[in-house]
Amino acid sequence: MKLWGGRFESGPAEVFERFSGSLHFDRELFQADVEGSQAFAKALRHVGILSREECDGILDAFNRMLEEAAAPGYFDADDEDIHTFVIRKLGERVGTLAEKIHTGRSRNEQVACDFRLWMKGEIRRIQGRLEALMGSLLRLADRERDALLPGYTHVRRAQAVLFRHYLLAYFEMFHRDWQRMQEAHLRTDVSPLGCGALAGSGFPFDRAQMASDLGFSGVAANSMDAVSDRDFALDFLYAGSLVMLHSSRLAEDWILYSSEEFGFLEIGDEVTTGSSLMPQKRNPDALELLRGKTGRVCANLQGLMMTLKGLPMSYNRDLQEDKECVFDTAAQVADSLEVLTLCVDTARIHRDAMESAAERGWVSATALAETLARRGVSFHRAHQIVGGIVLASVKAGKSPADWTLAELMEFAPELDERARQALAPRAALENHQLAGGTDPARVEDALAEARKRLARLEQARAGEAA
Ligand code: ARG
Repeated sequence: MKLWGGRFESGPAEVFERFSGSLHFDRELFQADVEGSQAFAKALRHVGILSREECDGILDAFNRMLEEAAAPGYFDADDEDIHTFVIRKLGERVGTLAEKIHTGRSRNEQVACDFRLWMKGEIRRIQGRLEALMGSLLRLADRERDALLPGYTHVRRAQAVLFRHYLLAYFEMFHRDWQRMQEAHLRTDVSPLGCGALAGSGFPFDRAQMASDLGFSGVAANSMDAVSDRDFALDFLYAGSLVMLHSSRLAEDWILYSSEEFGFLEIGDEVTTGSSLMPQKRNPDALELLRGKTGRVCANLQGLMMTLKGLPMSYNRDLQEDKECVFDTAAQVADSLEVLTLCVDTARIHRDAMESAAERGWVSATALAETLARRGVSFHRAHQIVGGIVLASVKAGKSPADWTLAELMEFAPELDERARQALAPRAALENHQLAGGTDPARVEDALAEARKRLARLEQARAGEAA
């Protein structure tokens, strides 16, 4: 079936039908299309196109379609797109009455409406997954109160941090990702219904009523914008790209940290694989796939940006290319978050390996230099002194703990027993007592604060669902 044809003498070529048909992917919008059509049927009743009985019959037929759609093969059809499919299915139930459902409606507003409804649901689903991941990071931080990590810059040991401080860094990223999803939701939550093909509808529909029937917070202000705007989809693709970029950074850390060379942690059997050839192997494929899928999700954003670039006003068929990239991003991001959460939940932390890496490295060098600076030594000289100690250590194969006070005092008379104690990585933690730093008491505060912030996100989402 087609929703057009009167003006044509012959039909489209088979190759072109295959090229332009979208049912094989836009069936994803089935439920949104039916619900949107139900709201539209009510609007048709209010303007007198449908009688009450006709409208009720249509609403009921749509409800039954929603039930039967789970049957295998339901979508095996050759309709041009999901909108055509839904109207044909309606016709199978209500006969020629179905021909009235498209009165004063264009697929241009309809597809925008369906897409927005679908995306609103996906954004909430992804926010739920982000909350679960943040909760897992906080639980791991609760479990690992004291674990000490040699913090890195340039993948070189830099300064000691609490492992939970490191975990909270990722909490911050995923918290911002949740907010970005919220922003995307805000701009998606606008109803295009009543905008027609581009100029507005020829019938006096109550646009606010249709919007509220569908749970939209508002109506699009301009009919041309409403049928051609897809920047709400770009917002989502961008927010999804950042979720993946952040996941990918955590994945990369843990690929390194779980290697034999680092030995800081292990992820569970649930998320690791073996080798078909090398019996000893335990590979972090889950983390590698998280890193790998990031490329494709970022490409989805690039792809749609290029599709939209230079599109003339208003609807153009190019816009049909907006869907697969968004469907793919939603599926990949939701799955990735679930897998990453499992990696965090099954992680076993090897505290001793982390701590001894910190002790062998010079992660307290800065704290020692700052101790000297507090005693009136210029920071430049303090830096030189400590640099000299590190150089001597490297040459002698010594760790910080191997130095006696007498030996240290040869480098600078200002060095005393308290300064020597500052060489212990744990002591260096307390050197960072400002808000946001890794001093244990500050981190405890930050963790308590993070728990409250997560609870607020969960409440905000539950409040909207209620
Ligand atoms: N399948 C189209 C899309 O995804 C919607 C239908 C509008 N088609 C049209 N030729 N006006 O954008």
